Amino acid sequence: MRLGAGLLLAAIRGFANSWARANAHAAAPCSGLFCCLHMTNEAIPKLTAFDDAALDKAFAALEDEARSDASALDVEAFRLKWVGRKQGLLNEVSDRWLKAAPGAAKKSVGQRFKVLKELVETLIENASGAGPSDAALKAEAIDITLPGTRRLIGAEHPITRTMNEIVAVFAALGYSVGVGPEVETDYYNFECMNFPPGHPARDTQDTLVVAGQERRPLRDRLLLRTHTSPVQMRTMEQQPPPVRIVIPGKVHRNDAADATHSPIFHQVEGLCVDRNITFSDLKGTLDHAMKALFGSAVKTRFFPSFFPFTEPSADVQISCIFCGGKGCRKCKQSGWIELLGCGMVDPAVFGFAAEKQPAYDAKQISGFAFGMGVERIAMMKYGISEIGQFFAGDMRFLGQFV
Ligand code: DAH
Repeated sequence: MRLGAGLLLAAIRGFANSWARANAHAAAPCSGLFCCLHMTNEAIPKLTAFDDAALDKAFAALEDEARSDASALDVEAFRLKWVGRKQGLLNEVSDRWLKAAPGAAKKSVGQRFKVLKELVETLIENASGAGPSDAALKAEAIDITLPGTRRLIGAEHPITRTMNEIVAVFAALGYSVGVGPEVETDYYNFECMNFPPGHPARDTQDTLVVAGQERRPLRDRLLLRTHTSPVQMRTMEQQPPPVRIVIPGKVHRNDAADATHSPIFHQVEGLCVDRNITFSDLKGTLDHAMKALFGSAVKTRFFPSFFPFTEPSADVQISCIFCGGKGCRKCKQSGWIELLGCGMVDPAVFGFAAEKQPAYDAKQISGFAFGMGVERIAMMKYGISEIGQFFAGDMRFLGQFV
């Protein structure tokens, strides 16, 4: 409120000053507009002559004043000064000039008053619609001849690119693509994947767990998933066999970072379930996928391994893509590089799936699963020796993949 009153006073004072200034250069002898006016201390002086010429001059002076105010004042100050409810100049003009006019002059004062009022309204309208004042526009003017800001065109991150390439190989074989939550329950991450509570196999996949969940049953406690395998179960719970799906995603482990390990990395999981799926299907599928990813000269071999959720399980090795299998530093002179895990889905896993989808009856169906690390494959494909490069956000590194 106080600010409003202050503004009003300032506006009135401003007007009185400029009126006085105008008066000064129209000073004696008695020829100008203001000779016809009784100058008082008030904002709008009284009119003494009501002939057309006198009225034209008096109103023209106000119109000029309004126009110059419109470019000097901001909209609110202008509004206050000209149409303010109590001391707005239009009200003053109406009181002092229009109402005080003798009967014969009422019409001509009224017409001119209407024109002035319309002008003031238009100025307010323009100023509100047009936004900032001339001064403000000038202050923020820019030199459009200067060169602009160059925006870098984005490109796929090498991890995303590799993940998409892997997915595309399987999509071409008729696999669909799925995703699952990164914050997972103990049940999906471990228990239904056949890592019972307390089982030592859990120790190989330590991770961050959400704090303060002691009162929940173990199976419901939340953790950052250590692998994409839980999405196998989420998929089977949603749909009966047959299933062919690949699941790309981010995973977390309590692994010390070194040149080839990172506590956050990515995997692509695969699951195929149907009648009569055999280990030969698994071998054929992965052999094809490795050739599609690394070139048709690549050979694969399967070594016995262990995963709780597959039986039998295997590690897949590919012939060294750097030396063609002759033996080099990269393959530690063996000619082979270990790349992914796989196996035939353990009947115990089907048992968990059958709780929601009875069609997963291990006597009727069989399947294989596999899981591969995306960083490892990207490092081999692009000859990268430090896994940390993927996450450092260094444009000199990332720019090479554009
Ligand atoms: N989940 C395993 C891991 O993170 C990878 C894996 C191995 C997935 C064998 C599978 C599989 O589906 O059959 O180490």
